[in-house]
Formats: sequence, C-alpha cells, structure tokens
Amino acid sequence: MGTRLAGKVVVVTGATQGIGKGIAYMCAGEGAKVIISGRNGRNEKDGLQVAQNIKEEYITDALFIKADVSSEEACKRLIEKTVDHFGRIDGLVNNAGVFPRGSMLETTEELFDTVFDVNIKGAFFCTKYAIASMLRTGGGSIVQIGSTNGYKGQKDLAAYSCSKGAMLTLNRHVAANYAEEGIRSNWITVGWVASEGEIELHERMGVTEAQLHEQAKVEIPSGRMQTAEDMAYGVIYLLSDESTQVTGTELGITGGHRV
Ligand SMILES: NC(=O)c1ccc[n+]([C@@H]2O[C@H](COP(=O)([O-])OP(=O)(O)OC[C@H]3O[C@@H](n4cnc5c(N)ncnc54)[C@H](OP(=O)(O)O)[C@@H]3O)[C@@H](O)[C@H]2O)c1
Repeated sequence: MGTRLAGKVVVVTGATQGIGKGIAYMCAGEGAKVIISGRNGRNEKDGLQVAQNIKEEYITDALFIKADVSSEEACKRLIEKTVDHFGRIDGLVNNAGVFPRGSMLETTEELFDTVFDVNIKGAFFCTKYAIASMLRTGGGSIVQIGSTNGYKGQKDLAAYSCSKGAMLTLNRHVAANYAEEGIRSNWITVGWVASEGEIELHERMGVTEAQLHEQAKVEIPSGRMQTAEDMAYGVIYLLSDESTQVTGTELGITGGHRV
C-alpha cells in the first residue's frame, strides 16, 4: 500500500462501477479515505460492496453515500455527509457521467437535460459545495473527468460533447479563481475505456466487448484501450501534494487517440 494520499478525504462521484470504481480503489491504495458515490449501481448493492471491499483490502476508511448528482440538493448533501463523517474534504473527483448517443438532429430536450443534469450540473454543484468546505480547511484538489469529446465531439454525441465542453470551462474557471485559496482544479481527457457503461452501450448497438477492443486497437495509436487504472494514476498525481503547483491543466490519457 502506498502513502501518496495518506490521510486525505476523497469523494469520487459515479464510483459504483467503471472508471470511478477503479479510481476509488487506487486512491484507497494510496492511503486516502474514500467516499464512493452514485445512485447505487445496477443491483442496489454495488456502492456498499465497493466500500466494503476497499475497507477489507486496504484497511482504510471507505463509505458509500448514495447521491444522484443531477440535483443541487443531492450534491450539497453528498459533501455535507462527507464532512459530517470525516471532518473535511481534500479531494473531489467529478466522474459521474452519462453518454447516451444522439446527433444534433436526434437530440430531444429530454435527452439534453438528462446529459447536462448529470455531466455538468452535477459536476458544478459538487464543485460548489466542495469549494465551500475546502475554503474552511485550507484548500483542496478537484479533478474533472473529461473526454476527447469535450473539444469538439463526435457527430452522434452532440449533447454529451457540449456538456464536457462546459466541464472544461468549469475546470479553467475554478483554477483561475481559487488558486489563491489553495484550491486547484485539473481535467483529465479520458481516451477510451471499456467500462461497464461503455460495454453496455456497444452491446445495445450490436457490438460485443471483443469487437470493441478490436475496433479500438485500430483507432488508438498506442494499440489498446485505456483502463480505469490508467486514469487513476493521473488522478492520484493531481490529488496528491506532488502537484500543489499544478492547476488548470488538461491531462490527456488517451494513448494518442484523437490528439
Ligand atoms: N468509458 C470511456 O471510454 C469514457 C471516455 C471519455 C470519458 N468518459 C467519462 O468517464 C466517466 C465515467 O464513465 P464510465 O465509462 O466509467 O461509465 P459507467 O461505467 O457507465 O459509470 C458511470 C458511473 O456514473 C454514475 N452515475 C450515472 N448517473 C449518475 C447520477 N445521476 N448521479 C450519480 N452518479 C451517476 C454511475 O453510477 P450509478 O449507476 O450507481 O448512479 C456509474 O458509477 C464519465 O464522466 C464519462 O463521461 C468515459
């Protein structure tokens, strides 16, 4: 077990599965007390199970807090419960996200709202309440889990791409305005990860997990899909005291995909 995040209290939204779950595990492996958050995964026990496994495996404190980040009230409660339990929050990873497909012409108001409510409204209000707490305790670090689609976006991800573009602005806004108070914000450009959500989406489109990896091998210059662990290495650096002078950056972990 490492110590790069020893004693830090870290909230990971959308940690019941996929990239967030991997990030939560690896942060715990570096000594962080981790808050697993989400609506509770596919089978109503995922979040509790992740927290339990982390506690057993890493002998660090871990807590599942159920929160649907698509409302300001839920984001507020998530941060408040964290502070009630652990006394502070040092790190926030805005990872919860949804990525239903839809081109500009296919995007309904309902689809747009679903995507924006989670991907940017959730990230914005979790950031708001985390900053409010970090101001009281002397600072902290926020990591925005972004996407190559945040820069322009593929045709069938219109609302998603725009929501990630807004997250990119959120990152720069926080970095520019809270460095004096010791609060940092950095963005990770995720390449392509075979998370549970990504696999399910492709299965619905008739693409198997094996075919997904084959397709990625051709498209990604490094020759493979990235993993949740690849993302977690970047997150750990950005949450740790190794990066106290790093804010407002955009760290690509893409294997060269869409650079
Ligand atoms: N996979 C990729 O290739 C890829 C590429 C670029 C960017 N990303 C980004 O990486 C992040 C994680 O994606 P993933 O691939 O790991 O997806 P995933 O497997 O579908 O996991 C998404 C997570 O978000 C949570 N979530 C969804 N709606 C939520 C809500 N309303 N409130 C709270 N939590 C919610 C889910 O938990 P519950 O179901 O328990 O709520 C789940 O834990 C997203 O922000 C995504 O945009 C992924």
